[in-house]
Amino acid sequence: MNKDKQIRIFDRQAGQYEKKKEPESLRQWRQKLLQHASGHVLELAVGAGANFPFYPAGVQITATDFSAEMLKKATKAAEQYRTQVEFMLSDINELEFAEHSFDTIVSTLSFCSYKEPLKVLEKLRKWCKPSGEILLLEHGISSNMAFSVGQKILNPLLYRLIGCHHTRNMIDLVNQSGLKITKTESHWLGCIDLIWAKPPNASTLG
Ligand SMILES: C[S@@+](CC[C@H](N)C(=O)[O-])C[C@H]1O[C@@H](n2cnc3c(N)ncnc32)[C@H](O)[C@@H]1O
Repeated sequence: MNKDKQIRIFDRQAGQYEKKKEPESLRQWRQKLLQHASGHVLELAVGAGANFPFYPAGVQITATDFSAEMLKKATKAAEQYRTQVEFMLSDINELEFAEHSFDTIVSTLSFCSYKEPLKVLEKLRKWCKPSGEILLLEHGISSNMAFSVGQKILNPLLYRLIGCHHTRNMIDLVNQSGLKITKTESHWLGCIDLIWAKPPNASTLG
């Protein structure tokens, strides 16, 4: 799918994301992960700002997304939760920051939509300070065989309809990227992963 089409799909979903009543478990996982955010935070693909209620006080957030409609909703959410946010409208693939720019990098439910997720993880590895942390809450392929077969069958249709893949293995991808996983949690038959990761030592950065 080309980028403009994918942006249109997410622009159309922005209203639903703003109003979405999430399952309580998803809110708890956001809270569990984001309580570890500190300092200057980069949030990728912020959507309508669903994470803003869960950040600790005092963090300074740079939030990006390529959907202008999502960013409009996120701007309202930042005002509502009095979160200090600088927004950037950009495709993640076109974003550049200096090496070691951020104390924390956050992504929730966004790696499913990137064309080249490994390349994005490699960017995170570069942008995160050596003492920093990468916090991920992502969905992907189930560890339950029967369920994963259904995901593989439905994946092409779901990608066309909502712009996201359902068959990615985030733990494998993070391991391939060279980031060091320090903790994981798996939920909903392995479809949801919470991942705490750190960059490798600064001396080993490529
Ligand atoms: C499923 S939504 C998740 C939103 C939010 N992170 C959350 O947890 O509710 C995926 C978001 O990723 C954004 N996105 C997808 N691909 C992107 C890309 N290549 N660059 C920037 N944003 C992207 C979409 O616009 C959308 O807001």
